Amino acid sequence: MLVVLISGRGSNMQALVEAGLPVAAVISNRADAGGLEFARSRRIPTAVADHAGFASREAFDEALAREIDRHRPRLVALAGFMRVLTPGFVARYHNRLLNIHPSLLPAFPGLDTHARALAAGVKLHGCTVHFVTAELDSGPIVIQAALGVRPGEQPAELAARVLRQEHVIYPRAARWFLEDKLVIQDAVVRVKGDDAQLVLAAD
Ligand code: GRF
Repeated sequence: MLVVLISGRGSNMQALVEAGLPVAAVISNRADAGGLEFARSRRIPTAVADHAGFASREAFDEALAREIDRHRPRLVALAGFMRVLTPGFVARYHNRLLNIHPSLLPAFPGLDTHARALAAGVKLHGCTVHFVTAELDSGPIVIQAALGVRPGEQPAELAARVLRQEHVIYPRAARWFLEDKLVIQDAVVRVKGDDAQLVLAAD
């Protein structure tokens, strides 16, 4: 089972659900996150942990962890969860906390990845699923999808093409995890059975 954390539209969470993965609960830090509606429509338990109600990051992360642990998930998947997590939270879910990031890490951690990639003139862009470590948008890489940047492409178009690939690789990574296929050694992830950890997208 996995618990998915969202802050917004939740399309990656939706991809995880639609891939048939056992999503035990969807937790948002925002009551108005669009993805909550989808989760409710699928009768998946939802909860809102509003960070505004807490005095410190630590207090919020503690409440969030309590909410997660009620479901006893093996895996916690961040899916557009727009909060920087405390080292304590990251340590608590060591090696069972995944994130999806819209760039080919370690390039372009942080926000506005597509505009920044275009501004840098990169020819290859994409997305990454990785284990979460205390440093923002870093950690052992599980799978990446790469696509060629089109001449004159705008950030919105590139974002949409990358998002389609996010919906391919996140369910794949989560399934590998739940099937105990991921091995982390010296910060490098290998998949038992040697399933491909790179998707080269044609469109
Ligand atoms: C995705 O691009 C994801 O990579 C990033 O935030 C966005 C969330 O989109 N971390 P959604 O809420 O999953 O639709």
